[in-house]
Amino acid sequence: MCGIVGYIGKQKDIRIGLEALRRLEYRGYDSAGMAVYNADAKTIHSLKAVGRVVNLEQRLKEVSFEGSPFLFYTRWATHGGVTEENCHPHSDCKNSVWVVHNGIIENYRELKEKLQQEGHAFHSETDTEVIPHLIERFFEGNLEEAVRKMLGLIRGSFALGIISKDDPEKLVVVRNSAPLLIGVGENEYLVASDPSAIVSQTKKVMYLEDGEMASLTPERCLIEDINHHAVRKAIHEIDWSVEDAQKGGYSHFMLKEIMEQPESITNALRGRVLPDTGEARFGGLSVVRERLRSIKRISITACGTAYYAGLVGRYMLEEYTGLPCEADVASEFRYRRPIVKDDTAFLFISQSGETADTLAALREVKKKGGLTLGIINVTGSSVARETDAGIYNHAGPEIGVASTKAFTSQLTILALLTLLLGRQREMSLADGQVVTRELQRIPDLVKQILEQREKIKEIAEKYKHAENFLFIGRKYNYPVALEGALKLKEISYIHAEGYGAGEMKHGPIALIDEQFPTIALCPQDSVYEKMVSNIQEIKARKGPVIAITNEGNGGMKEIADDVIFVPRTIEMLNPILMVIPLQLFAYFIGVARGYDVDKPRNLAKSVTVE
Ligand code: F6R
Repeated sequence: MCGIVGYIGKQKDIRIGLEALRRLEYRGYDSAGMAVYNADAKTIHSLKAVGRVVNLEQRLKEVSFEGSPFLFYTRWATHGGVTEENCHPHSDCKNSVWVVHNGIIENYRELKEKLQQEGHAFHSETDTEVIPHLIERFFEGNLEEAVRKMLGLIRGSFALGIISKDDPEKLVVVRNSAPLLIGVGENEYLVASDPSAIVSQTKKVMYLEDGEMASLTPERCLIEDINHHAVRKAIHEIDWSVEDAQKGGYSHFMLKEIMEQPESITNALRGRVLPDTGEARFGGLSVVRERLRSIKRISITACGTAYYAGLVGRYMLEEYTGLPCEADVASEFRYRRPIVKDDTAFLFISQSGETADTLAALREVKKKGGLTLGIINVTGSSVARETDAGIYNHAGPEIGVASTKAFTSQLTILALLTLLLGRQREMSLADGQVVTRELQRIPDLVKQILEQREKIKEIAEKYKHAENFLFIGRKYNYPVALEGALKLKEISYIHAEGYGAGEMKHGPIALIDEQFPTIALCPQDSVYEKMVSNIQEIKARKGPVIAITNEGNGGMKEIADDVIFVPRTIEMLNPILMVIPLQLFAYFIGVARGYDVDKPRNLAKSVTVE
């Protein structure tokens, strides 16, 4: 939530900050702001605008700001409404110290009260505003010193960018439970919440850890930990380009990312499939490979779409490894008393690797000594760095707020993990070979479904005015029904519910009438007959049904109102195919209803606050 950009160096052109901010807009987009130090005027100029980054851009055309250092910010409101006053950067009473903040200051009320009693005047309803005032209180000519003292008082999560006109040659940044990285240029440093923001300027980055503070000047970067010990950082090379993070001719990132799935699935498989022995290998798991032989249980934790991937993974792992497997939403897991035993592998799935609840759940397991594994898309992200071993998706940047290619990539990796763990146990060579062979066909099968997008668009047009939708599936496709409903509600704001089809009769069937369509996921698998019965029950109550079934199952046209056909594969891989029409359906309905599908209201790409 919220995007931060900072810059210090030889360039004085603030468009660098604006360009970086545009790439972070997925993190929040209700207002945007900036502050820049102008050496001639010896002052800091600031400007804010409610709405998207483009509004700030328009306002910046009316002024001629330039200088260094500078800060940029795009907001996803947590404390206080969407107003210019509440947008960052925030400053102190003298407009000397300016701060951008991603996260939440939990004890801001008491700090604010105290500061007000001391005479500090506040202008916003935010938690963040206490930070510049605290720095003001402690400032004696050295910005880092004052920041250090301020850090002793605040509690919560924060990624901070701080500049001051009274110590103007510095940009100070701090990280605690919110993402922040430093881009390294020549006589310049950039700071951002995510590497996609700065990749056009530099591919060299350093990732800050929690509790670390960096003091940057154009020539040097001093990093220290929570105990004020100097820290030496490795410089990582970003292995993707700015083009990877652009729309590539598609009207929306969401559509681009849906269409990229044959490639992102291929990338998830690359070098990991051993067809002859029916096995899978992951470089990232080599350090724990032997330990995995002796585990007796698997626990999967994630949020949202990644959690639904985990639910599918549970079916795969239980069926082929014989290991009991649980899947939990991280926000519940972290507040339960999770039983952490030596014989369990704890798997955390996250596209961003920065989701606050997933990270907190991971830390809880680590504290208790559990073995932690990750399936992560963003390299160098917090979850990736903190798990004992992990698997990268290599799906490329996912910019659309609604997750699409990350989901199918997560399913692909879960299938590979099933092979790895299954073949270490009872899974036969023949079964392993079938799964590897089918996995290699998946990218082509996905391509075939994507070719039907015009037909799916027509169906979306037909149903675009519906106000409710039910999604049903069984077994492997029950989590896909949940994911289909989530996609539709996020993108089109239509009320949608996902249900295990067997639960229909226990309540939801009461909703069904002519106005309440159902999407039924019914490949011809082991629960097909049961699904057909559920569809008949809906039809008997005049509910419209869109069925997604296998090619060659012409009989379905007799039962359902509309049918989308997908190619056949083995049961455990069906979810990868079944979800594609659901993603396209949600996308086309969202577009037909005139919504900004890449940035749905009230959402942000990376949920770095609780
Ligand atoms: C839905 C969506 C979210 C995320 C969830 C977890 O389309 O994108 O439900 O899946 O916020 O995010 P990550 O995977 O980054 O941990």
